Amino acid sequence: MHEIHAADPAGSPWWRDAVIYQIYPRSWADGDGDGVGDLPGIASRLEHLRDLGVDAVWLSPFYRSPQRDAGYDVADHRDVDPLFGTLDDADAMIARAHELGLRVVVDLVPNHTSSDHAWFREALAAGPGSPERARYVFRDGLGEDGSLPPTNWLANFGGGAWTRVLEADGTPGQWYLHLFDPSQPDLDWTNPQVRADFETTLRFWLDRGVDGFRVDVAHGLVKDPTFPPFGKHPGGLMEVTHEAPYWDQDGVHEIYRSWRALLDSYGAPERILCAEAWVAPADRLARYVRPDEMHQAFNFDFLETQWHAGALRDAVRRSLAANDSVGAPSTWVLSNHDVLRHASRFGLAVGQPRPNGIGAADPQPDAELGVRRARAATALMLALPGGAYVYQGEELGLPEHTSLPDEVRQDPTFARTGGVELGRDGCRVPMPWTKGAPALGFNDTGASWLPQPASYSELAVDAQTGVAGSTLELYRTLLALRRDRRLGLGGLAEVEGLPEEVLGYVSTAPDGTRTLVLVNLSGAPVDLPDGAEVLVSSADLGDTRVPGDVTVWASLR
Ligand code: GLC
Repeated sequence: MHEIHAADPAGSPWWRDAVIYQIYPRSWADGDGDGVGDLPGIASRLEHLRDLGVDAVWLSPFYRSPQRDAGYDVADHRDVDPLFGTLDDADAMIARAHELGLRVVVDLVPNHTSSDHAWFREALAAGPGSPERARYVFRDGLGEDGSLPPTNWLANFGGGAWTRVLEADGTPGQWYLHLFDPSQPDLDWTNPQVRADFETTLRFWLDRGVDGFRVDVAHGLVKDPTFPPFGKHPGGLMEVTHEAPYWDQDGVHEIYRSWRALLDSYGAPERILCAEAWVAPADRLARYVRPDEMHQAFNFDFLETQWHAGALRDAVRRSLAANDSVGAPSTWVLSNHDVLRHASRFGLAVGQPRPNGIGAADPQPDAELGVRRARAATALMLALPGGAYVYQGEELGLPEHTSLPDEVRQDPTFARTGGVELGRDGCRVPMPWTKGAPALGFNDTGASWLPQPASYSELAVDAQTGVAGSTLELYRTLLALRRDRRLGLGGLAEVEGLPEEVLGYVSTAPDGTRTLVLVNLSGAPVDLPDGAEVLVSSADLGDTRVPGDVTVWASLR
């Protein structure tokens, strides 16, 4: 055995090994039946999460927004969009979660606002050189008449990253920067007003009782002040992210230090910050979780790793080593509202790059293989030390919707790339709660902002509850064992002498409890070592051997 990570002490703060469930508010539960999920709907369904055995929820944005990027285009950070309810509904949802013992993390979107935000309207009205414009990144264009964008930077959702505005007199004027959709102008974080306003927003939600923030595009707030040319596509996890003049610039860290101090001033239990930072290599990502910065940073390197033993082994090692060097836990994740669901991802051929959406005309994932590997991957993830995020519906083994008609697609990526990239709608389809019911129990009316695929009915929560072998029962068992055996706080050692295509770990809890984790990525069954007693397996074992594409947890004497 070869130790790759030391155990956390038993009394570690809650977030170091927390499992946090992501709710995508438009698609979880719809209280008013208009086809879009809402806060009262969420509050009414939270028992599902208590029964699942997670520690906290993270909710994607429910703030005032014209919804051009499903709420990541915020028009007022301190109010609830009527689509989702009211501030009172938010208070009630937070209170209900706390009653059930669930902590609540909300989304903070600091890189940009909506173009409907009062500040952006003021900026347009006030004109070049005004303090109102200085809250955003306005620049004069290049060329004699300023008709060329200030740089060649590209936007994440397609097209250029600059849009030219019409000045008050109707003539074409300055350009503003948007790393995402044109309806999402980037804020200028060198401006003290921007900083002060976000501190107000942090306090606003902390005072309402939230337990933390997931920080959207945490690697994007600071831009290289020389605005150098950079024409590569900005999406995905680049090898050396900070080569892009707008990603992972050193200046972001000082912002997070100030937020950490603000959160710490609220005392115990700790309120947390989690970075959504698509940053590589791992040691650059670890800088976001230094002791005086954020608590967590999503491990997208792990999410991007395909079903390949060597690649997974390396991703686990890399993440633990980098995070250990700053004393932070790793934060494992396999799915979220931006990527193809892992039950479908693992059904694609290994080596194929992760597509941004799949359509009916594309080669379809192998559904059975995908869910088998997804269950094995989840069982690996939940055994690893650190925190983990679970995306709504993955506990049901939901596949991506891979045949959405183009007319219903809403992700701005689809239109901005002229349909070349289908976008993220397929992982955002409303949850199935009740087999055969209208909208599968998402609401009572049958309305649904995106259609649910036929396969979701059999996968509904009620169809899996109490059913041995269902993905839902697997998640419940894994989460209960993880908690009992303190796997999230465990020390981790690699088991040596196994076939190359088999991952083996022993997790040792602070109290000495030892759990063996075997992930078989080889085609052939492997034996468990003598004395190992199976606690749970991601699929039926048949005999005592571990078949391919299966993860087993076993106790060790
Ligand atoms: C983050 C969000 C994504 C959003 C983007 C722009 O990556 O997760 O959904 O579109 O930021 O805010």
